Amino acid sequence: MSRAAESHGAFVPFALPDIGEEEIEAVVATLRAGWITTGPKTREFEQAFGDYLGGGLECVAVNSATAGLHLALAAVDISPGDEVIVPTHTFTATAEVVGYLGAEPRLVDIDPKTYCLDPEAVAAAISSRTAAILPVHYGGLSADMNALMEIAGAHGLKLVEDAAHAFPTRYRGELVGTLESDGAVFSFYATKTIATGEGGMLVTRNPELARSARVMRLHGIDRDAFDRYSTKRPSWYYEVVTLGFKYNLTDVASAMGLEQLKKADAFHARREYLAERYIDSLRQLPLVMPPRPEGDSTHAWHLFVIQLGDDVPSTRDEVIRRLHDLGVGCSVHYIPLHRQPYWKERYSLSAEQFPNSERLFQRAISLPIYTRMTDEDQDRVIEALHTVVGDV
Ligand SMILES: Cc1ncc(COP(=O)(O)O)c(C=O)c1O
Repeated sequence: MSRAAESHGAFVPFALPDIGEEEIEAVVATLRAGWITTGPKTREFEQAFGDYLGGGLECVAVNSATAGLHLALAAVDISPGDEVIVPTHTFTATAEVVGYLGAEPRLVDIDPKTYCLDPEAVAAAISSRTAAILPVHYGGLSADMNALMEIAGAHGLKLVEDAAHAFPTRYRGELVGTLESDGAVFSFYATKTIATGEGGMLVTRNPELARSARVMRLHGIDRDAFDRYSTKRPSWYYEVVTLGFKYNLTDVASAMGLEQLKKADAFHARREYLAERYIDSLRQLPLVMPPRPEGDSTHAWHLFVIQLGDDVPSTRDEVIRRLHDLGVGCSVHYIPLHRQPYWKERYSLSAEQFPNSERLFQRAISLPIYTRMTDEDQDRVIEALHTVVGDV
């Protein structure tokens, strides 16, 4: 079906997954095969994901990026009393996983050039308790990883990437997931660039870290259920070697993930096309376009975040409301963590400590961008924006 024929009519939603017959057939085949929890499809998905990133990596499939981040931090030994540097401009999962380990997230401001962790703010936030840096590749554009790798190296800190938005993203020619960090964690949540409903992948170059994450992924058992039922050992035998969690990805989800992965390049091309089309069509409006990748870096365009220019008299909330009335769904990424009651109260945070994040928050609108969006859908968003902010 052509993109035009598929148009979604009355309302352009903020996000939609792109599930085709291939995913449906793969899921049905897995259901018919009878192995529905972690097993051969999950192995295949891990292998294919690693191959996509160029090989030589360990991939650990998990049931969410939150789970993957928790495992990665646990595997690098984040412990009570440690601090982990996290951007304030993120989803709560990034900070929450630090708390799971009894450690403290140390929130820092973002760089207005990337909307990701500001390396200078990171350097200023390092204390004797700092154990790791946890950057977020916000919206699908990489953080300044060279600067962060340098800081981590100089201070002996672990570096774990929240790559929930960053599949596929290149940083200076290298795919996120292959950089010199301790690990990167991708999300396959329903609205992400490839989706399995819920799901994630922890990727690392470090076999020891991967082994530890694999054991913790399934109750601290020394091998997963698939091995347990397919090797020569008695099927009832297993050993619990550490405190674990229930974080394994099912074969049903992995079957979907394998099909989505085959489409990843086509999906990415469509997102790049839509992003460029927004940039071209909105340039006359009093809006700030999202930061763009430089040189041989690329953007996954999971999010397309505009900011209202200073001369737009309406508030961000009014603009979102009017766009909604014109049939366009938008969102805001994110309400910064320093504004969230739990984090704000726990660390006595105030908006003045995070001026770049505050400025972005006050003006940011995430426009719809997804692969099933037709050119006609996008035209509706563009027209609506011209109507709402075009006449200032
Ligand atoms: C920046 C960021 N980190 C982590 C997560 C958690 O991902 P998941 O829903 O796969 O646990 C999200 C989810 O949206 C996110 O946006």
